[in-house]
Amino acid sequence: MEKLLKNPVFHTIRDISDEMGLRSYVIGGFVRDIFLDRPSKDIDVVVIGSGIELAESVAKKLGGLKLSVFKNFGTAMLKYRDLEVEFVGARKESYQRHSRKPIVENGTLEDDQNRRDFSINALALSLNKETYGELLDPFNGMKDMQKGIIRTPQDPDITFSDDPLRMMRAIRFATQLQFRIEESTFEGIKNNKERIDIISGERIADELNKIVMAEKPSIGFKLLELTGLLSIIFPELQAMKGVDKVDGRAHKDNFYHTLEVLDRIVPTTDNLWLRWSAILHDIAKPVTKRYDKKLGWTFHNHNFIGTKMIPKIFKRMKLPLNEKMKFVQKMVDLHMRPIILSEDIVSDSAVRRLLFEAGDDIDELMTLCEADITSKNPEKVKRYMRNFKVVRRKLKEIEEKDKVRNFQPPVTGEEIMKTFGIEPCKAIGDLKAIIKDAILDGEIGNNHEEAFALLLKKGEEIGLRPVKK
Ligand code: CTP
Repeated sequence: MEKLLKNPVFHTIRDISDEMGLRSYVIGGFVRDIFLDRPSKDIDVVVIGSGIELAESVAKKLGGLKLSVFKNFGTAMLKYRDLEVEFVGARKESYQRHSRKPIVENGTLEDDQNRRDFSINALALSLNKETYGELLDPFNGMKDMQKGIIRTPQDPDITFSDDPLRMMRAIRFATQLQFRIEESTFEGIKNNKERIDIISGERIADELNKIVMAEKPSIGFKLLELTGLLSIIFPELQAMKGVDKVDGRAHKDNFYHTLEVLDRIVPTTDNLWLRWSAILHDIAKPVTKRYDKKLGWTFHNHNFIGTKMIPKIFKRMKLPLNEKMKFVQKMVDLHMRPIILSEDIVSDSAVRRLLFEAGDDIDELMTLCEADITSKNPEKVKRYMRNFKVVRRKLKEIEEKDKVRNFQPPVTGEEIMKTFGIEPCKAIGDLKAIIKDAILDGEIGNNHEEAFALLLKKGEEIGLRPVKK
């Protein structure tokens, strides 16, 4: 194990700990991630004694590094190159029922390991010279890691009731690491699910976003559903589960469909909101669902109603209410357009309109739409994909030709007022809309000359004449 702790910062901590007669250990996520081969930059050091005093000496030895001390928490944080090292005294915690804030006392290493959330997060490596790199693993965390198991070190009812955020963390780790949650731990989440109410929306959203950005987020959402947490934190998604059958006709299960779409959008460093769009693209299906004897199941306008549901969901979940949300709304609103396009003969004007509405987000919209094809019928999938190719080609051709992706009106409101010598009024908006529609419909080109000629013609029709210059 020694070679795992070869960073010079560990050597310094070792030397100073020995000098000060303190026992210190690196513990928690950093140790877990060494064994899982997930490089991590956050190091937690537990000291039997004062974490702050050790940190101060280490900072001094390393050449007066900047140290942030949090007296109230008894912790100190040191930045060393690209690492953040946090020092804390080993502690024993006892919790009260209505709070995540424990009563903290000094404790032993075992006390400290005991209060941690999962066996794989309770591993510690010794930092003292004579035992340097020795693994202390009282709850068989290594074995769980090898078997791929999330398990609480203590009675799960205590671990989860002490800190209900850990229910989200259990599911998040199971998703990120593709681990299984051990049965009694799983039962513990089910028993304590209502206690998620004492956790702030921000903390829940943080965990949820980590699930959303995992390789296979469906694992996490299925676990949230199975434990009963989903209906508490995200009832709109829970409502998508299940199928109704009338006259022997059933619709698809929109919960599982949504998860499939979500998994199909490959996570990148910056597509969190596209993944959220996938989660929400059919969110209004339960509320718009109707059965029609002729048509079967319909979900009329579910895209538009979906966009209206999003602000409430984002607000409750403490997700940003800014342009990120607007992007998600736009994706949800437009998510059926490329499919409809690809089912029809792909006309230039329909493509131009889609480009105009999607703007710079057109590529992401196409990615979402392709992910939305989850049909099990290979012929159908092939046909859709072929048609999408046509749509993509057309999008490119038309953008090159007409440049409507970032449409700027070729004639401005200002120019219209000057041309006809009029004050701001409704007619200006109407004329601008006429010009825009003519461009999108391909009746005129996207240039000033043709747009101005149309302006004069349409102005005349409503009694406007250009003023003499
Ligand atoms: N921990 C805990 N209960 C929590 C949060 C954290 O017991 N609700 C403990 C775990 O031992 C964890 C350590 O504190 O390993 C550090 O927590 P944190 O840095 O939040 O998470 P990591 O486990 O390091 O994982 P990640 O960085 O992926 O969040």
